[in-house]
Amino acid sequence: MPLDAERRPELILLFGGPAAGKGTQAALLSDALRFPHISSGDLLRDHQHMRAAQALMDHGDLLPDSAVSEVVFARLAEPDAQAGAVLDGFPRTLGQAEALDSWLRQRGGTLAAAFYLEVPREQMIERVVSRGELSHRGDDHADVARRRVEVFLQELPPVLDHYAAQGRLHRIDGTQTVDEVHQRIMAAHAEPAPPAH
Ligand code: AP5
Ligand code: MG
Repeated sequence: MPLDAERRPELILLFGGPAAGKGTQAALLSDALRFPHISSGDLLRDHQHMRAAQALMDHGDLLPDSAVSEVVFARLAEPDAQAGAVLDGFPRTLGQAEALDSWLRQRGGTLAAAFYLEVPREQMIERVVSRGELSHRGDDHADVARRRVEVFLQELPPVLDHYAAQGRLHRIDGTQTVDEVHQRIMAAHAEPAPPAH
């Protein structure tokens, strides 16, 4: 490893409800910035030997903060994430945001920006249902999608407030085309962060 292996990681966070486009936009950002795309949902789907995890995910409920944080921090410790990463779907609760703050302090890392993809509730459900016709995800059904949206609307507001207070949150209209959303994220990333409140 080169001497700069002790690099301070730079994180970019993507927030949004079910099917808001987090995975789509994280993949584009990952290519543009050359940071790995780390999705908590994908990591957890790979850990489905944990039966309890699968049952919670199939009902649209969140997994415990400690279990999710452990899986995400283990992934962030891998060599390709030493300079930074695009995090998709984590943190999702205030507890996870606080765990990430401590992780950043320990690693001397920085939070470069957080983007919230705003999409109306019914449009999120429509997207989940239309993707569900092709995907094999156990949670891509209308009733589970409604539960996922409810959980998201309950848990995310304090997380958004947390990052707005740090002056790191950019709100992006997620109803535009994939390319337009990407352009808006890149433009916001190049600007100074909005003022903290
Ligand atoms: P997760 O896998 O994160 O699912 P989600 O949040 O419900 O979001 P999706 O992956 O469904 O959507 P996305 O925003 O990535 O959108 P995508 O780009 O695919 O989490 C699943 C479960 O894991 C949770 O319910 C929970 O149980 C657990 N979990 C995960 N993280 C956790 C955490 N931190 N704590 C606790 N539990 C956790 O796009 C969706 C569709 O829309 C696609 O078909 C796409 O082509 C289309 N689309 C995308 N952008 C556009 C656009 N601009 N215009 C039109 N269509 C678009
Ligand atoms: Mg996703």
